[in-house]
Amino acid sequence: MTTYTKNKTINLQTRLTQVGQLIGNTPLYPITNVYAKPHVQIYAKLEWQQLGGSVKARPAFNIIKQAIIEGKLHQGKHLLDATSGNTGIAYASIGAALGIPVTLCLPKNASEQRKKILSNLGVNIIYTSPFEGTDGAQIKAKELFKENPERYFYADQYANQHNWQAHVETTAPEIWLGTSGRITHFVAGLGTTGTFVGTTRGLKKFNPNIQNIALQPNNPMHGLEGWKHLETAIVPKIYDEKLADQFLEIDTLDAFDMVKKIAQTEGLLVSPSAAANLLGAIQVAEQIESGIIVTTFADDASKYQE
Ligand SMILES: Cc1ncc(COP(=O)(O)O)c(C=O)c1O
Repeated sequence: MTTYTKNKTINLQTRLTQVGQLIGNTPLYPITNVYAKPHVQIYAKLEWQQLGGSVKARPAFNIIKQAIIEGKLHQGKHLLDATSGNTGIAYASIGAALGIPVTLCLPKNASEQRKKILSNLGVNIIYTSPFEGTDGAQIKAKELFKENPERYFYADQYANQHNWQAHVETTAPEIWLGTSGRITHFVAGLGTTGTFVGTTRGLKKFNPNIQNIALQPNNPMHGLEGWKHLETAIVPKIYDEKLADQFLEIDTLDAFDMVKKIAQTEGLLVSPSAAANLLGAIQVAEQIESGIIVTTFADDASKYQE
């Protein structure tokens, strides 16, 4: 923060605190209707209930805050990254609140709502090939940074340690406190892998016996926005393959079905990846006699209704 002019430094610190109050502390909601089993309880953390409307508020805020503290993001610099949407919206919201310009590389086939939200938040969008997904967007962001390192702070959510650390510091303690330390299983899909890696590391510190289950789409041509099929995608640098106690696969059409069931039985309009997380949690529930299973609902349905 010392890289800002004197007055701006004071404003920025105050603003960081104010914005930080809108990050995290999301509700831990008991799933009771769409699935029930005696002695097993599934909870979903409703992650859209924070600034920018998704779980990515946590890593985006931490990445920006740490970059300011480390002097890597200061006046005149643009925040640059590749994102399929949610992290971009989080960067854009936080960037707008802090007065930081944001440039994002985005696959051209990202949903129209996401593109509209990003442009409404004032983002400079650079479109990449729809056939290369987030991998193509990552390659483009790296090129831009290489061409002009003075202009950009390259946030690089796939390699930035402050991504998963956000979940060690916020998601894991919130889950631990929210279940009064009774959580037995944590279930989450893999995108940048920040949610799974950070929450798992954080929960293992509280209780190393907590089982952590990683979810993946069951094939490379899936429709679970935000998730990666790690066997065929660029593996994020922050990923740690030793962390998962178990891997489960989720089918896209099953997740779309589950979106409807969650809406009609729980009253929650959620994204396909949230429904996929619940499918994973239910698979775990079927394996055990008793336990408290926690998963995350990364975002709501609003960006997925074409
Ligand atoms: C909708 C959605 N679900 C799940 C994830 C996966 O979260 P993570 O990147 O922390 O692995 C993302 C990530 O962008 C996402 O946008």
